[in-house]
Order: sequence, then C-alpha cells, then structure tokens
Amino acid sequence: MGLHILGTGSFTPDGTLTNEDLTKFIETNDEWIRTRTGISVRHVATGEPTWYMGAEAAKSAIDAAGIDPAEIALIIDTTITQDYCTPSMSCIIQRETGAVNAACFDLNAACSGFVYAMDMAHRFLKTEPDSKYALVIANEQLSRITNYEDRSSCILFGDGAAAAVVEYKEDTLYSSHLGADGTGAKYLFAKSALPDSPFVDEEKLSYEWHDFSSAPEGNYSHGMKQDGKEVYRFATHAMPKAAKAAADKIGFELGSLDKIVPHQANIRIIETAMKNLKLPMEKVVVNIKQHGNTSSASIPIALDEAVRSGEIKRGDKICLVGFGAGLTYAAIIMEY
Ligand code: UT7
Repeated sequence: MGLHILGTGSFTPDGTLTNEDLTKFIETNDEWIRTRTGISVRHVATGEPTWYMGAEAAKSAIDAAGIDPAEIALIIDTTITQDYCTPSMSCIIQRETGAVNAACFDLNAACSGFVYAMDMAHRFLKTEPDSKYALVIANEQLSRITNYEDRSSCILFGDGAAAAVVEYKEDTLYSSHLGADGTGAKYLFAKSALPDSPFVDEEKLSYEWHDFSSAPEGNYSHGMKQDGKEVYRFATHAMPKAAKAAADKIGFELGSLDKIVPHQANIRIIETAMKNLKLPMEKVVVNIKQHGNTSSASIPIALDEAVRSGEIKRGDKICLVGFGAGLTYAAIIMEY
C-alpha cells in the first residue's frame, strides 16, 4: 500500500534577504523576527522563472533516483506562483527533463501542496499498474506576491523549489489524511492579477473580506494578505489533527516515528504542534532559519536537505505534515 521515494532534489536561488536587509524598508529588527518566527534569512529569485527553479530541482531528484526520465508516467507540479495561467508548470518541467511519456498537471493546495501531490501520485501509481514512476515538484516564488509594505507578513516568505521521484510499493508503511476548511479562505489569500479587459470590473470583483485593516494596500493590491493570528491558531491544531488522522487509519503509533518534516512556517507553530503531538523537537526536521516559509516547497526542501545530510536515513518512518491557505492541511506517514 506504500510509496517509495527513489530520489529527492532541491534548488534555492542565489539571492538572499536577511533580517537586516528587511530593516531597510520596514520598521522591524532582527531580534523580533528571530524570536517570533525563527527566521534569519530567505532566498529570493534573481530573475529566474518559477518553472526554472522547479526544473532544476526535478533534474536533481531524477539524478538522485538514477532512473530514465522516459519512464516517468506522471508529473504533478504544485505552486501558488506559476509563471503562466497556461501551460502548466508540469508541462514545462516535462520539456526540461525529457519525461516524454508523462501525463502532466498542476495542483494548488498552497503550503499543503507537496503532501497533497505526493498522495495523488500514490493513488495514480496504485491504480495504473503499468506506470513506473511519478515526479512531484513544488516550486514557489513568493517574493512575487509578498507585500513588502506589510511588516507582519513580508518577514516570513522566501523562494525555492524541491522535487521527489516516487514509485508504488506494496507492503510498506503508508497512510495519509488530506483536508480543508474553506471558511478560513479569508485568513490567507492573494488575488489573481487581472487582465486589462473591457469585461473586467475590479470594483465588482472585490469582496469585502479582501481587506485586512492591518495589511497596507500600497502597490501590492495583488500581494498576499493574512490574518497572522488566525492562521497561527489554525496551524497549531490542523497539523496535529492531520498527523493523528493519518496514524489512526492504520493503527500507527506516532511515537514510533523517526522524523517529522513539518511545513516551515514559524518555529513557534512547529514547537506548539509537536507539543500537541507529544513529540520531541529532536525528531523534527527544521530549516526555517535559512529559508523562511517557501509555501509548498518548504516540506520537500527540508526533506531533501535532511536526506542529503543523513538526518533522514533509509528505513526511517517519517511524517510529512503541512497546512496552508485554503485553509488546507495534509499529512503522510511513510517509510523513507
Ligand atoms: O504558510 C502559512 C503562512 N502564514 C503563517 O504561518 C502565519 C502564522 N502567524 C504567524 O506566524 C504570526 O502570527 C506572525 C509572525 C505573523 C506574527 O507574530 P505574532 O506573535 O502573532 O505578532 P502580532 O501580530 O501579535 O504582533 C505583535 C506586535 C505588534 O505590535 P503591538 O501591537 O504589540 O505594539 C505588531 O505591530 O509586533 C508588531 N510587529 C512587528 N514588530 C517588529 C508585527 N510585525 C512586526 C515586525 N517587526 N516585522
């Protein structure tokens, strides 16, 4: 019933945005950001498109897996910062990787996207016995939709990408739980950029909940807006809920996990969620200090770094768990 990760890869752009850099354009300081979020620096793209970051991560994952890209049957790309409405990021990544036999589509579940996509890949491979491999990519350029006039949110986000090549495997540990609460859509959103068309009336399109008094509009009317406290509250409950639900489905004891790879949104969210799960922080993969929150890319970047550093080893029982805009939540328990 399981999923086997053959290889992972990641890509982080060269540009960096330190806490010190942020003090040059918003009223903040390194100490506040570090103690309230755990973040010191984020990576930001320096001109490369989102698809490029995803393609680099995908090539690295294919390399690590040691497979022929022509044997990839499915590509799922997950992002909230796609370069185009169409074509999909996954089609462009197919072009870049030579995965010529793959079906391709994109998935948007915000920061839960990678976990959602891995589970979709599992379901696809399970029901298509002739399909050998799936490639799952998460690539995000949050610097494009971050409101750099809103000090309570712009300190959080960064850019990056990561990918995994997976195959279906019988008789191995696997369980998942995916969910959403659409009533919380208003707590974290970014409006789509609208075309200059005679049929678009931006006034009529603006719902009242599009405005948070704490989030300045400025030149960022399509930038991300969030009610940090509501999202925080949701996250600390949603991640434990998703992990417990996945464990309960198969009678798995969460205490026997070797590693947990949570969405890297805020170190305090991670600590509270782990306290709720009664799991020690030593079991948690944390890289938020160097990356900030890279939305759907955050879990697979952390996974790839942990695999490459030896923090996660073959045979480890791991849990990938996230939450995000939507509001969404998702967890997978599996063996690495
Ligand atoms: O992928 C999901 C993405 N979103 C999240 O995960 C967001 C979840 N929420 C959070 O991580 C936290 O709510 C934040 C980091 C966004 C905010 O932390 P907080 O501890 O909830 O701070 P707060 O909003 O309660 O603000 C406390 C104080 C306020 O000042 P007063 O009213 O007490 O005088 C803010 O104006 O901190 C002030 N503040 C700042 N000060 C320095 C807010 N942002 C900053 C800042 N630097 N960057």
